Amino acid sequence: MTTEQTASPHAVPRHVAVIMDGNGRWAAERGKPRHHGHRAGAESVRRTVEYCARSGVEALTLFAFSSENWQRPAAEVSMLMSLFMRVLDREAERLQRNGIRLNIVGDRGRLSERLQARCASAEALTADETGMQLNIAASYGGRWDIATAARRLAEQVAAGERSPASIDVDSLGDEICLHALPAPDLFIRTGGEQRISNFLLWQMAYTELYFTPVLWPDFDDDEMARAMDWFGARERRFGRVSASPVSGDADGA
Ligand code: IPE
Ligand code: IPE
Ligand code: MG
Repeated sequence: MTTEQTASPHAVPRHVAVIMDGNGRWAAERGKPRHHGHRAGAESVRRTVEYCARSGVEALTLFAFSSENWQRPAAEVSMLMSLFMRVLDREAERLQRNGIRLNIVGDRGRLSERLQARCASAEALTADETGMQLNIAASYGGRWDIATAARRLAEQVAAGERSPASIDVDSLGDEICLHALPAPDLFIRTGGEQRISNFLLWQMAYTELYFTPVLWPDFDDDEMARAMDWFGARERRFGRVSASPVSGDADGA
């Protein structure tokens, strides 16, 4: 992860991470089954990707399916997997045309072989694009991510390639998903819950957290602009003191 910097006012976040929540409730409000909400949510994905790409965001990470979402009813899981497959097939070329590079992160071995193959070919199609990087977190959990990184380091130790004493924040961080990108600057969760739900636990140590009650299918460009404006007004300190000290707090006077 690159060095953290204090954001200047109204800066565009370099990396935005989103928990797209509230599809089921959106459908329930309309007396429709949950899958109706998931399909509507796919439209919000396209809108958000294009908004961020237009705004100069370098990386957008969307939480599509968590490690824990495997515990949902089998019918919902399989509906979400086939929706994911259809969206990949439908959108990959459009991403390529827009210069967006796709990267799918998570425990991909748990996805069906067919879906794993589709993920690989969608990634390959956009691999040379140099615009925004779109990360889709599928079968992803922050704890899985950290545990996987720890296992890789343990394997290196067992192979005699590194010593236990060499393990530190940087070496573990280098094994964590998305380590080549700046850490998320702005986290957005729609749907009203104020929790992380096992998303990017390591990566979000200093991310600004924005929660909105708006349900994901209703999250449009105006709502995105509101989140970006909110981010622009944050003062990021990363544990240091304010860049513009208020009167009376300097020099211990
Ligand atoms: C988010 O919407 C989509 C996924 C988790 C895949 P939900 O399905 O969690 O919708 P709510 O939270 O039940 O409304
Ligand atoms: C988080 O939403 C996961 C995704 C949006 C993919 P959930 O709806 O699964 O989270 P909880 O259960 O409310 O914490
Ligand atoms: Mg939910």
